[in-house]
Amino acid sequence: MTTLITGIAGFIGSSLAKHLLDAGETVIGLDNLSDYYDPTLKQARLDRLTSCENFSFHLMNIEDLTQLDNLFAKHEPTHVVHLAGQVGVRYSLTHPQDYVSANIVGSFHVIECAKRYKTEHLLIASTSSVYGANTKFPAQETDRADHPLTIYAASKRAVELMAHSYASLYNLPITMMRFFTVYGPWGRPDMAPFLFLDAIFNDRPIDVFNHGKMTRDFTFVDDLTLSLQKLMQAPPIKDKPVGNFDSLSPVAPHRVVNIGNADPIQLMDFIRAIETATGKQFQINMQEMQAGDMVNTCADTRLLQELTSYQPTTSINDGVGKLVNWYRSFYKY
Ligand SMILES: NC(=O)c1ccc[n+]([C@@H]2O[C@H](COP(=O)([O-])OP(=O)(O)OC[C@H]3O[C@@H](n4cnc5c(N)ncnc54)[C@H](O)[C@@H]3O)[C@@H](O)[C@H]2O)c1
Repeated sequence: MTTLITGIAGFIGSSLAKHLLDAGETVIGLDNLSDYYDPTLKQARLDRLTSCENFSFHLMNIEDLTQLDNLFAKHEPTHVVHLAGQVGVRYSLTHPQDYVSANIVGSFHVIECAKRYKTEHLLIASTSSVYGANTKFPAQETDRADHPLTIYAASKRAVELMAHSYASLYNLPITMMRFFTVYGPWGRPDMAPFLFLDAIFNDRPIDVFNHGKMTRDFTFVDDLTLSLQKLMQAPPIKDKPVGNFDSLSPVAPHRVVNIGNADPIQLMDFIRAIETATGKQFQINMQEMQAGDMVNTCADTRLLQELTSYQPTTSINDGVGKLVNWYRSFYKY
């Protein structure tokens, strides 16, 4: 098995790569090391991987089809985990074009190369944000996802649909993974857990939106990457649904799978867990709801369990504790 991970210098990509390399797998990684957030953090994540002999890194933009094709031609990966893309719900309000270029055009190139080189299983990152304006929780993969609230969510949903057309036309096995708020060591500086830590260690106040009346299905990164490893071994097979909850397409080897914790946490409880783990207190500025935000997220993970026997094992207190320990040692607090 040879796995290509796009977005390998990212939070989830580097964590998955570490797990695969530790298990003796061969991993090829690409990333353009974009400066959307601190590239030195991305480089530090890569530095954890470069000592492994089964690893190679390629500085590359997925918007460049020729370069990407050359990489596929050279390595012919059996598995492709496509995580590269423009992230961030709030940034998408001010930079919509970046989401069209990286997420829609870039993902199209990855899908096209997977077709050309007959990848055995292509797994693509989508998001809980595609559930958008839905009010039914927990969200199930077969629920409609037609009312995105941001161009970020819309770009991810567009990729889900593009992927279906290729799965159907070329019998290309594709799993779309809808991640729910991932957190943990080596996390993303633009996401709330990181912003909160930065504020609490620097004695700055935090903005808490919708007066704290929000829930998130926080998913600890190690739980997510372990389930991802198992999911890689479970490509969708046309006409072979698994269990009663399968979102398998009726005409193609294409399925959507939620990857979440199935145990939503009140935002204020998450904030209190950080206070407990750091031994410090937040100064809180309560704010109104932000445009484009979802009030609640909660994953129905029955399909994931059926496919992988996945059971998240990390409690919110343990997960936040591990995040805080890493943050203190990395940033020397
Ligand atoms: N972290 C979460 O909670 C979460 C939730 C839902 C979905 N996702 C999705 O999972 C994927 C990984 O997320 P993450 O949290 O690790 O984000 P991340 O930003 O840490 O990782 C993405 C990586 O992709 C790279 N990249 C961006 N544009 C690129 C391009 N055009 N060519 C090559 N590389 C490019 C970036 O440099 C970055 O290292 C993303 O697609 C994201 O939308 C993440």
